[in-house]
Amino acid sequence: MNIYAQILVDEAKRRGIRVKVIDDEQGLFVLEHGGKRIRCRESLTDRTSAVAMAICENKCLTHRILRQAGFSVPDQVLIDRETTPKEIRSTADLYLKKWGSVVVKPLRGEQGKGVTVDVTTPEEVERACRFAARDGDEVVLEQYVEGRDLRIIVIDHAFVAAIERTPARITGDGRHTVRQLVEEANRQLREQTGGEARIPIDDETRRVIRQSGWDWDEVPPAGETFPLRKTANFHTGGTIRDVTDQVAPRFRRIAEEASRILDIPVVGFDFLAPDFSGERYTLIEANERPGLANHEPQPTAERFIDFLFPETREKIGEQAG
Ligand SMILES: Nc1ncnc2c1ncn2[C@@H]1O[C@H](COP(=O)(O)OP(=O)(O)O)[C@@H](O)[C@H]1O
Ligand SMILES: [Mg+2]
Repeated sequence: MNIYAQILVDEAKRRGIRVKVIDDEQGLFVLEHGGKRIRCRESLTDRTSAVAMAICENKCLTHRILRQAGFSVPDQVLIDRETTPKEIRSTADLYLKKWGSVVVKPLRGEQGKGVTVDVTTPEEVERACRFAARDGDEVVLEQYVEGRDLRIIVIDHAFVAAIERTPARITGDGRHTVRQLVEEANRQLREQTGGEARIPIDDETRRVIRQSGWDWDEVPPAGETFPLRKTANFHTGGTIRDVTDQVAPRFRRIAEEASRILDIPVVGFDFLAPDFSGERYTLIEANERPGLANHEPQPTAERFIDFLFPETREKIGEQAG
């Protein structure tokens, strides 16, 4: 199984909970203890209602609910199958005039797939819409928000952990081309993440590289650092850093409140914020199956099993056995 399922299974076994793997490729397993049986797909469990999941899956719906509840979310509009190219053009013009830069993404996407960030021309918006709709999904056009990318994990409506995610970047060495440097970065990523993360070699990466004035076959000088991707997702090569202890209490509270509003017991929120002091923030999305393995050394797996099987919770001072 992948690491996201594996750390949960390991923690369950450690507590004497019976584990039955149903489908290792999809991370599907069943936990049984004291007559209770809970199915899980990685961190998504029977305890998350189908309605909560339907809300989180749909970025517009999540957005509307959070906006109505008073949370700060980016300005956003849905481009559905009925939207004509002419309407897309006028919406793009409107948003570009209003915000200067926009983000285009699939309505139901995940792992940064099909997402184009920081688009500033109508032509680019059109291309980004085609990219986002590639897998047949509807598309969301959104105000671009500058800031640091924060993923916050909430379990049982309590804050557990936070990481800062930084989009993939490379540094030139004066010898290798951009393409070779990206290939080398991907070789390392494959080793470090067991194939989970990869910088896509596609038009979007090329667009981002060109924003810094480079192209695939050029050789950047030693020390020259520039971004490859604008999505901070781990799966598109973003790097992660534990910032659990740096996140302001206000952010913790906002994430906990948002989990109650969405009525989802295990959730990962994507925030954008200028800093972690808690003053300004934008809530980007809610993930119903967050990768709990990305939060070392925080006890995400422990809190997950505590939530499902509180009777197996370790008492304070007791040794893990
Ligand atoms: N409105 C936005 N402004 C700036 N960056 C954004 C915005 N929306 C998304 N991003 C960037 O793109 C990444 C992926 O977008 P997200 O909505 O979280 O989709 P996914 O479900 O694919 O993770 C985010 O983590 C963030 O780095
Ligand atoms: Mg996300």
